[in-house]
Amino acid sequence: MLERLIEKLDALSQDFEQKAASVKTEQELQALRVEFLGKKGHLTQFFRHLAELPPEQKPLLGQKVNQLKNQFQKRIQEISDSLQNKAVSAAEIDVTLPGNRPFAGRLHPLMQVLDEIKEIFKGMGFTVEMGPEAETDYYNFEALNIPKDHPSRDLQDTFYLAHNQMLLRTHTSPVQIRTMESRKPPIRIIAPGRCFRNDTPDATHSPMFHQVEGLVVDEGVSFADLKGVLLSFMQKLFGKNTKIRFRPSFFPFTEPSAEYDVSCIMCGGKGCRVCKDTGWLEISGAGMVDPAVFGFVEYDAEKYTGYAFGMGVERIAMLKYQIGDIRMFYENNVRFLTQF
Ligand code: DAH
Repeated sequence: MLERLIEKLDALSQDFEQKAASVKTEQELQALRVEFLGKKGHLTQFFRHLAELPPEQKPLLGQKVNQLKNQFQKRIQEISDSLQNKAVSAAEIDVTLPGNRPFAGRLHPLMQVLDEIKEIFKGMGFTVEMGPEAETDYYNFEALNIPKDHPSRDLQDTFYLAHNQMLLRTHTSPVQIRTMESRKPPIRIIAPGRCFRNDTPDATHSPMFHQVEGLVVDEGVSFADLKGVLLSFMQKLFGKNTKIRFRPSFFPFTEPSAEYDVSCIMCGGKGCRVCKDTGWLEISGAGMVDPAVFGFVEYDAEKYTGYAFGMGVERIAMLKYQIGDIRMFYENNVRFLTQF
């Protein structure tokens, strides 16, 4: 019985080698593995015969079967390696295949627009200032001439930090106060950054958004300077045919105050869907610094005048890239972000 089994094992080994030699694909290799080493494979059958043998013969056959098992496994591994090598070298010499471009990150579209805004203002002699996102009531409202009971506070409801009486700033205007407190004129700054309001998100509102503030203070600064700077800024950003216009408005920290618009970047002012047939796109507010604000920072309002302006970064990015919904900026959808 033992001899017969050993003969059978030898035949099995030959059969295996023969089949192994003709394997050309991963599938064929897998089939070979199943046929010889699988749960119902040839070799597994032999372990069953072991039980039928007299005890003194068991070790010998056991050893044989194990040897064969190792031999099969080794051979299958060799074939698998060589199949893989072939696949790799075949790919290596196929110079017509496209390369694997590694995924590279990029700046968020809002940061790209912000960089562009900064560069334009730097070119006009402005420096860039930063302020904290968590502010005191004093910097966000009081010193900007917005007292506790002023109705304009209603438009800028925000998030209050209960533990320290601070709030998330509703605009970048507090950086005006911080800058004027810490140095004397001449001042020529922009202040970009994140702002927050207690707004329900929709296509044009987000509880978190970005603004760029501007402030210039010196002797003899006029509304004409404000107009000139905003016009050249908009022309650098949207093209040299861009026009701007000012409409009278109200802000507690500027007097006189205005809201400013640019001629529609889609139709050039003729009227279209984007500008709702008005020819103009609203940007934000601006004006001459209110003497009351100079009072808070102890600047001599008889000697100095200044202008200030704000702008929304999302608004500008949406116009520039024709994006219809502000929420797309914050959804982290890679298919959206990689378009910029
Ligand atoms: N802070 C204003 C807002 O968020 C925008 C603004 C208006 C800024 C007039 C200014 C300005 O500097 O002069 O609505």
